[in-house]
Amino acid sequence: MQRIFSGIQPTGIPTLGNYLGAVRNWVKLQDDHDCIYCVVDLHAITVTHDPKTLAQATREMAAALIASGIDPVGSILFHQSAVHAHLRLSWIFECVVRIGWLNRMTQFKDKAGKDRENVSAALYTYPALMAADILAYHATRVPVGDDQRQHLELANDVAQKFNFDFCGGDSFFPVIEPLILGPAARVMSLRDGTKKMSKSDPSDQSRINLTDDADTIAQKIRRAKTDPEPLPSDPAGLEGRPEARNLVGIYAALTDTDHATVLRDYGGRGFGDYKKALADLLVDKLTPIATEMRRLLDDTATIDAILRDGAARAETIAEPIVRQAEQLVGFLRV
Ligand code: AMP
Ligand code: TRP
Repeated sequence: MQRIFSGIQPTGIPTLGNYLGAVRNWVKLQDDHDCIYCVVDLHAITVTHDPKTLAQATREMAAALIASGIDPVGSILFHQSAVHAHLRLSWIFECVVRIGWLNRMTQFKDKAGKDRENVSAALYTYPALMAADILAYHATRVPVGDDQRQHLELANDVAQKFNFDFCGGDSFFPVIEPLILGPAARVMSLRDGTKKMSKSDPSDQSRINLTDDADTIAQKIRRAKTDPEPLPSDPAGLEGRPEARNLVGIYAALTDTDHATVLRDYGGRGFGDYKKALADLLVDKLTPIATEMRRLLDDTATIDAILRDGAARAETIAEPIVRQAEQLVGFLRV
């Protein structure tokens, strides 16, 4: 069975983008893969964070994943800071990765913005830790949203250079295959169809949070930006209409179909009708997750126990692999 690894930062309530671009696929892949899912709290502190809320945000993310259908028994669910193998391999990868490769990372450019001189060094080396997360388990398939594609290409470059430099070209680290799946691999902001939906957008109206109630979901969809034309009858008609494409992609993902199927039903109709159907569908799919998440969070001891058990199982896999990487690099073992 192929091994899957993926991660999500505990930087806020997960959005519809996280759910459709990543988590929903993680749930499905559990049926026929050996899956490891990680709440990446080490990545979360690469930007300014509040130390008073990080631990609870980590639990909340774990609860959101379980409520969405991640099985913490059949799969492994843990938080990154609990397994030190990630940091040991990340250091080695920081020595392998080239500055020129990091300079090309668009996520760094987006996150640093104009303030480049003043962001943390770790925000810059972030992709080395991400490569370590995956390769510490020799995972071969990584389900993510479209925005992570470039980071996975870099992880493959790091693995290849490590293999070349320290293993005479043998493939100690395997090639990673990105799994960027479904019609909503890039869910856009409800306020601006050219911007990614994000947990950290200052406007709450730009996103659907997994914990939004039915009224909030309906109101956000009603107010979502659109254009004045009715929906087209085929996907070619979505060209140049990013907001329409986004709302159609969301419907398609939630119903396990595609843009063409949704447009077959709604082509020619105005956004008024369509938004109502979309809001009903979202309420139907998301509100049970929010209810389950609240139930789980009533018992934080159980969530902590799940994460502790996940970390122990993760460590059993990562420890020998990272030890071998350290040996290949040539560290003295006494
Ligand atoms: P993050 O919240 O940045 O930790 O992202 C966790 C996962 O959700 C990653 O696989 C991302 O690619 C995915 N993701 C985040 N935002 C979106 C979005 N707007 N559309 C699709 N996938 C997303
Ligand atoms: N960088 C990813 C994001 O922001 C999160 C992440 C960290 C990740 N480590 C990972 C995703 C390993 C996949 C595999 O979305």
